[in-house]
Amino acid sequence: MSNREEFDRDSISNTLMIAIGLSLVCSIIVSSAAIVLKPIQKQNEDLFRQQIILDVAGLMQPDVDINQLFEAIETRTVDLETGTYAEESDADISISIPVDLDEAGIGQRPRYVPVYLVKDGSDIEQIILPVYGKGLWSTMLGYLSLAPDGNTIRGLRFYAHAETPGLGDQIDKEPWRALWVGKEVYGSSDEPEIRVVRGPVPAGAPNPQHLIDGMSGATLTGNGVSGLVRYWTGPHGFGPYLKNFREAG
Ligand SMILES: Cc1cc2nc3c(=O)[nH]c(=O)nc-3n(C[C@H](O)[C@H](O)[C@H](O)COP(=O)(O)O)c2cc1C
Repeated sequence: MSNREEFDRDSISNTLMIAIGLSLVCSIIVSSAAIVLKPIQKQNEDLFRQQIILDVAGLMQPDVDINQLFEAIETRTVDLETGTYAEESDADISISIPVDLDEAGIGQRPRYVPVYLVKDGSDIEQIILPVYGKGLWSTMLGYLSLAPDGNTIRGLRFYAHAETPGLGDQIDKEPWRALWVGKEVYGSSDEPEIRVVRGPVPAGAPNPQHLIDGMSGATLTGNGVSGLVRYWTGPHGFGPYLKNFREAG
């Protein structure tokens, strides 16, 4: 029997063995890369999140280490069911949002949510809340900064969305971002009164401190921002937590 007959390189079994072996080697390389890179990705995500929080707080400084700047910020976990601080920061519990309350269009939300407190010694200077909800094309994720009165807006910053460039993406650009600064979320009740109107706020409109000009050509995205800010500051969101600040004056 010749060698050629004993080992046929082009046989089906040989081709299959080589294909399977190659797939195994490739999948081991890809899986190992994913495992090795995961902590680096997590570190980069944390750094990015810290940068956005510092930005909405007005604390970003060029050429200063982000971790060092972030030392001015205390991270706490809020139990949205009670509006109090909780230790269960890792507890992964989802709560369904009743349709009639779901102004953010998100269906469900976590029970335990982080908040970021900008502090000067023991005094709280800003309360920064993660907020998100549906726009026209995408889920828009951002941070809302409030003064220690739990009512006056210091800033609103979106860091992820897929609204249209030049239209819906005005949510994260000046001059629209600046319109939020100094506005008030609540009037005399626990229900948020803040909202984005269609077009400019009419001259002489009652309670203009709660009204934001709509974005031209992006009314639907503006409605989404309005809804998500109202949901997250409402009784099913951070409302009970923020009430503590409002009542403390
Ligand atoms: C290609 C395309 C992209 C659009 N992107 C957005 C958008 O990101 N946000 C938005 O609110 N409307 C967007 N619109 C416009 C809406 O479809 C809608 O016409 C508009 O919100 C109408 O209200 P307005 O002109 O008063 O804003 C887009 C329209 C087109 C054709």
